[in-house]
Order: sequence, then C-alpha cells, then structure tokens
Amino acid sequence: MRKLQVTVAMVALNCTLFTVSAQDLVVQVNKPVAAVQPTMWGIFFEDINFGADGGLYAELVKNRSFEFLKPMLGWKELRQTGKGKTLIINQGNEKPQNPRFARITVDSGSYGLSNEGFRGMGIQKGKQYNFSVWAKSGEGNLIMKVELVNTAGKKIGEASLTSFSNDWKKYTVSFITTDTASKGLLNVFFEGKGMIDVDMISLFPQDTWKNRPNGLRADLVQMLADLKPGFIRFPGGCIVEGQELETRYQWKKTVGLPEDRQLSINRWNTEFPRRSTPDYFQSFGLGFYEYFQLSEDIGAEPLPILNCGMACQYNTGEVAPMDQLDPYIQDALDLIEFANGDTSTKWGKLRADMGHPATFNLKYLGIGNEQWDEQYVERYRAFEKVLQQKHPGIVLVGSAGPAPNGPRFDYAWKEFKQSKAGLVDEHYYQSPEWFFKNATRYDNYDRKGPKVFAGEYAAHSKDDKDAESKNTWISALAEAAFMTGLERNADIVQMASYAPLFAHVEAWQWRPDLIWFDNLRSVGTPNYYVQKLFANNKGTLAVPILQYGHVLTGKDSIYASATIDQNKKILQLKIVNASSAAKGFMITIEGASVFRGGVWQVLSATDPLAYNTLDKPSYVVPISTPVKASGSRLKVLLQPSSFNVLSLPFNKKSN
Ligand code: AHR
Repeated sequence: MRKLQVTVAMVALNCTLFTVSAQDLVVQVNKPVAAVQPTMWGIFFEDINFGADGGLYAELVKNRSFEFLKPMLGWKELRQTGKGKTLIINQGNEKPQNPRFARITVDSGSYGLSNEGFRGMGIQKGKQYNFSVWAKSGEGNLIMKVELVNTAGKKIGEASLTSFSNDWKKYTVSFITTDTASKGLLNVFFEGKGMIDVDMISLFPQDTWKNRPNGLRADLVQMLADLKPGFIRFPGGCIVEGQELETRYQWKKTVGLPEDRQLSINRWNTEFPRRSTPDYFQSFGLGFYEYFQLSEDIGAEPLPILNCGMACQYNTGEVAPMDQLDPYIQDALDLIEFANGDTSTKWGKLRADMGHPATFNLKYLGIGNEQWDEQYVERYRAFEKVLQQKHPGIVLVGSAGPAPNGPRFDYAWKEFKQSKAGLVDEHYYQSPEWFFKNATRYDNYDRKGPKVFAGEYAAHSKDDKDAESKNTWISALAEAAFMTGLERNADIVQMASYAPLFAHVEAWQWRPDLIWFDNLRSVGTPNYYVQKLFANNKGTLAVPILQYGHVLTGKDSIYASATIDQNKKILQLKIVNASSAAKGFMITIEGASVFRGGVWQVLSATDPLAYNTLDKPSYVVPISTPVKASGSRLKVLLQPSSFNVLSLPFNKKSN
C-alpha cells in the first residue's frame, strides 16, 4: 500500500497565500443552459462479483435449499461424534421451483451438516441471528442443535429446535453471538436416533437494512443511500440476457415466498475461466420486490431492465422467434402491473400480499441490455408497439450496444431516432485517456430524438496486487472530468451510472467496481467518492462556467461544470485539475453573490495509481473545508491532480 498522499487544500476563498497567478473563470448563474433531471446520477446493480448472494442479500447460508448443480456444494457432513447419513431427494415436477431437500438419518450420537457460507460467514459479537429451517420429521424425535463457530472451532452462538411435526413446517430460533468472526461456519447437528427431512436452512442477522426479514446487508445499503442516487438500474447487465435464453433473468421467478423462487446458475459462475466461481448461483432472495423496495427506501427511481427475447450476443446470441415473442412482452406488461397495478389485479395483488399495497410508481423500463443489430431493433420495436399503446406514460430505454461508437452504435442511434424510446443506453468501458478526451462527447451531440442514458461506464486503468487495485485515483479523476461533460449537457444526458456497483474481495469476476466488501466490511473507491460528490451536489439547473468565453474541457488540464440548486439556493462548482501543478483562478459570479457558509470538498492524491482498500479505506477520500468568502469574486487555488466541489449559498442579484 502506498503512503498517504492526500493533503488538505489551501482553500480559503479570500486566500491571502495565493501564490499562483490567477486566471479568470466566469460562472453565469443568470444564464441556465439546462434543467438537471432528478434522475441524473444513479446506480447500476448487477448480481456480479457476489453482488447479491454473498453480498447485498444478507443470507449467510450458501446453497440453503440444496439446489446448486452439486447439491452438497457448500455443505460438509459432521460425523465426529455420531453416525448418520444425508440423502438428497429430488421431487422433480412435484415441486419444480424447489425440488430438492436433504433427508438426514441419524443412527447414534450427534451427526450433522456444516455450511461454509459465502467465503465464510461475517458474524458480529453481541448481535441477534435468526435461524430458520423447513423440516418434516420421519422417524424418532431428533433434536436439532444449531451452532456458529469461528475458524478456530470456538462456539460463538447456539440454539436448538425440537418437536418436529410429520408435515413440512418452517421452524425458527434466534440467538445472540458471543464473538465476532469474519469467516464463521454454521453447524447443524441432529441428536438421537431417527430421520428428518430438511430444506431452506437459513441464517440471517437481525440487523438487516430496516430490520427486514429476508433483508439486505445494512452497511452496504447505507453506502448506496449515502450516494443519494436518482435511480437504480437493475438487475443487469448481461445477467438479464443469460448465456442462453434458458438462463435469462425472469423476474416472475424472483417474487413471492423466498422458498418458492427457483434458483438459477449465475452467468458469472462460468463466464471468465480465469475467475471461475463454481459456487455462484442466484437464489433470488433479492428479487424484483426487494429491488423496488430498495429503490423506494433510498429515494431512487426504479429502472428495471428486461430480457427482450435475446440471449447474450457475446455467448450464444440465441433469439426467440418473432412469432414467439409474446411471453416476453407479457412479462413486461405484467411487471408494470406488479409495480403499478391496483391490488385487485393479479400482479398488483401479489405485490400487496408481499407487503406493499401501495404502488411502486414505476416510470422507466429498459428493453434489453447490451443488444445490437437488426435482430435487436426488430424485437425492441415489437415491445415498443405494445407498451406505447398500453402504457404511454412509461419511458422506454433502448440499448446502443456495448461500445461507445462504431457501426453497431451508429445503427442503433439511427433506428432509435425514429422510435418512441425516451432514452438510449450507452456503455463505455475505456481508458482514463478516453474519459478525459470525451469530456466534450456530448457538447455537439444531435439534440433531436431520445435522450442519453450513460448506463454503464468506468475508466479501466492498471491494477496491482490487491483486489481493489484497479480502482485507481487516475480512473476516478478521469471519470470526474468526463462527468463534467455529462452535467454540462444535462439537457440531453439525463441519467448516468457507474458499473458495476459491488465486488467481494474474494469472489470477484470483474474489475473495477464502485464498492468493495468482505463479510464484515466495505470500502468506497475513489470512483465512489466522485459519484457521491456529483450526486450529492446535483442541482436543478446547469449553468455555464467559462474561461474567456469557452467551456472548460481539458485546456491546461482543467475540466469544469456548474449547477445551481434553485430550491436550496446553492451554487455548485465542480472543477477537475488533472495537471501535476497547482492552478489558481479568480472566479467571477454573474447574476448572484455568494455568502459565508459554503463548503469546499477536495478529492485528491499525488499518486495516479493510489487506491483504497478494506484495510486502508481512507487513502483517497474527500476532505471538506468551510468557505468563508462572500461576494461575486472568489479566488481559488486548486491542488495538483484534484477534483473540487464547491457548494456556495447564494443570493440572486436583481438586474
Ligand atoms: O458490468 C459488467 C458487464 O459489463 C455488464 O453485465 C454488461 O452489461 C457489460 O458488458
């Protein structure tokens, strides 16, 4: 790990220590150029890198219903003090959504199963844990003893269950832990002589986000809430498409009782052989209801992406024939009913039965992820025709494919300009140089047709030994420069989200990512703080920030954008100094004067390859300083290699 290289900026706006000759910048508060949509800065969630199971979804037991391809994956028999056996029974079509269960037979003593969790279980000392199991007693009167142990085998929590009925029933028991463990194990022993069937063996912390059963990891949701995202795009990403149509994401299989949600292999299990993750599946405990609920909790518009009858074009590229597209389109109609329908409707009733009678007020719907060519446009149009007619108020989001330019990209845009799509989703995974250069990308974009959704982007730079090491400072700085271009063009760019969101340090497939975590901790990357600074200082109107009448897009390595929040009366300046020298500016504010009470936040590092880790999470973090200045002329000195956000309360000047 590199030495801490963040230094506090010399930030007094009336700075007397001003050593660099100042050039003029002009901010025209009185000449707004575009409304900034409340959706402008959002997040993109995909179940990649253990994002859902093993991550955001707080379930601690892996393969809880024995449905992985190898039914005992994650489980080990415990035979030290007894004799017994486990038989996996498959009920097949009798229960297609959850066909397998384990039949435990104990001959003597104490026999059981141990679950390894997702790279262990993160357990906190002195907290309540809730164990549950579906069980049906066969013979005898077995006692079920549940214990959490740490890696040294020390017991750190225990409970027991008895008196099982001869019908399938759910049993629950809670206990308080006596110690913390980052890699705990769950042992479930059966004592006595007899036989019992078990399924859905589950362990959750009580302290989930909002203490919800079947809930989400509170610390990770808090990281999302802190971003104040305008929207959440979910559930993907390529996961929507499936490697083949059979394994595409089907939202209907992700709602209802958790035990009735049919497990599916996660495409990232096998996608990259060098990062093979054989224990990566989707339990869908985090399903569409939970995504909508999460969106509501953190004040973000839900933006579900649906499969459009196409499997991933990087894999099989399978398509559903045009005359067999109806079930896919029906899924879209039913999803709108699930989110927005009255509780008297089939899907609206399910939403209510799940605990949310009020609608989720869905306004956006993505048709396909990264699709391309005629086969996509044809299918998109079939969706559009029906959805426009039945739900003209829903904004449809089309895909420009996986690349930020080229023939496929041009073709998609040409077609979407003749469509009713509200937004076109562009993706760019490129070098930091590309991001700096493309700060001007939208300055001369064609304003006719759909708006732009920058749905997935991340600057890819060098990596080092740590999992988190690809999230370098230079990548974050380049993204900040690029985002000034998005903000300046807020009339056409109306949504943007970094990708992907989460990665487990021991189970990732794809880097860089916005937030890294292990079983107990999480860390924001420099890229996270860039997103946070933009989203927390979003504003309602974009206003010009100019140097000698020109926008700042990289001349002398300076990039800038500005917004005002009309309601809070705050002027927000975002300025990137990508050079290795400090830069001084005299800023003239036209049409307003600022007063004391502002804040200057600086994100900076001298090493372009600096990054944050779980062990050193504060290597590159924003440093805030109060701004004491007032009036219409302000001096600033920007540190070398820094991203600066100044939020300044203002009064408008009357002309
Ligand atoms: O973010 C990871 C992947 O990158 C997404 O699944 C896909 O849409 C893109 O290619």
